[in-house]
Amino acid sequence: MKKGNHSGKNYKQFWKLSRKEFNTDHLSLTKGGDLVVYEGNYQYNVRELAEKYGTPLKVMFPYIIEQRVEDLMDLFAACIREYKYKGRFHYHYPMKANQNREFVMPIISEGGNLETTSANELWVVKRLWQQHRFNSRIKVICNGPKTDQYLALIAELKRNGLDIVPIIEDLSERDALQKFRGQVGVRVAIDLKVRSYWDKRVERFGLTPNEIYEMGKIHNLTLLHYHTGSEVLYEADMLRPLRRAMEIYYKLKQINPTLDTINIGGGFPVNFNGKEKWATRGLVHSIIRFMAKFCEENNLQHPNIICEWGSYMVASAQLTVFSVLNAKLIPKATAKQWYVIDGSFMTHLLDTWAVHRQWHIVPVNYANNKNLTRTWLAGLSCDSDDKYTRGGSYILLPRLEDLQNGDKQYIAFLDTGNYQDGFDNHHCLNATPEKVVCQNGDVTVVRKRQTADEIGEMFGW
Ligand SMILES: Cc1ncc(COP(=O)(O)O)c(C=O)c1O
Repeated sequence: MKKGNHSGKNYKQFWKLSRKEFNTDHLSLTKGGDLVVYEGNYQYNVRELAEKYGTPLKVMFPYIIEQRVEDLMDLFAACIREYKYKGRFHYHYPMKANQNREFVMPIISEGGNLETTSANELWVVKRLWQQHRFNSRIKVICNGPKTDQYLALIAELKRNGLDIVPIIEDLSERDALQKFRGQVGVRVAIDLKVRSYWDKRVERFGLTPNEIYEMGKIHNLTLLHYHTGSEVLYEADMLRPLRRAMEIYYKLKQINPTLDTINIGGGFPVNFNGKEKWATRGLVHSIIRFMAKFCEENNLQHPNIICEWGSYMVASAQLTVFSVLNAKLIPKATAKQWYVIDGSFMTHLLDTWAVHRQWHIVPVNYANNKNLTRTWLAGLSCDSDDKYTRGGSYILLPRLEDLQNGDKQYIAFLDTGNYQDGFDNHHCLNATPEKVVCQNGDVTVVRKRQTADEIGEMFGW
């Protein structure tokens, strides 16, 4: 940090807080250098949470999800009005992104629908349906491989009145769903390469356009679905597949006049590496503008539009907080010291390892310390891969020498709300962290840290 950057404002800037483009508009610092999270005029001091509940700690903010769902729906509604688009927009939350009750309920309360990938996710829907937790307008899309258990649950929920749409993803599913009494969708594998973390040379999901055309008329087909990848890096790579999908939609509509919806899947990126990629507003405008033009040129009825943006919706609704256990010198490297944290990248932040995710890391206390050191972070397991080096660069953090009165240094990983929780595992018998929810000014423990007894039992001890 440059000399003279001592005011709170500059530290906030330095750590990229209170900035919408970094998803940190609700984050700030106290005068003493503690990280705080705002919910309107409520505030949560993250250091106090770490001291009270211990670390590793997952801190969830459902109100952030509510806000994001509302903003997205408003944005689509405004564009639909502007371009006089006749189809409707529906948001479907892909539950795989985070199945915690505290993430799913805010989506539903804001009028969001759901997308499931497995029988067990659909089991959650069944429970909500049985408890009369949502109204009959909600729609559920079922993606993912259809096991017998999954198919049976789909049929059961349909019989019980839920508006449920299974997506045919291969020929065996076409056969299994032939007698399904409700609407069905079909997933097409778009043969385009997009630049994303999940870029695939060979698509393993969905059917080729020809396979779909050769099916002829599909009973009750209303929806064409595609999903190209997660964390799509460029706006053009969201729009090119849409054009290709609409060409397929157009042909398919000639054979299946009941078709009335295009589902564009997930993929909207989160600013994990702290750079604004492209803005939601621009993309949504481009989508609706393109759809209106395409339909006009092809004399096509305007389809309804569904999106399943998961990471976009929930990543910023959770922080994961660790404390630094100790520091070790690193000879001859860009970083000066290892900071060993009390959690594991392989256990708690698996995307570090799986997709080389670049984390936005912020000190939870001492954030206005002008003495920073270049660190690499080491996780709490036996694995040499259990580390985070920001791709061989370094992470600037306060010096441990400056800690006072026996304080610990806490650090927060931002945007951990998507996928990391479902990936949590027990490598080295590490425990699942405690989870707290901050809402309406209150902090509630919703899942206690797993004890050694509980983990031991899972492994037969
Ligand atoms: C079919 C489908 N829809 C939606 C998503 C959500 O993707 P993202 O979280 O990148 O928006 C995924 C992710 O794998 C998916 O496979």
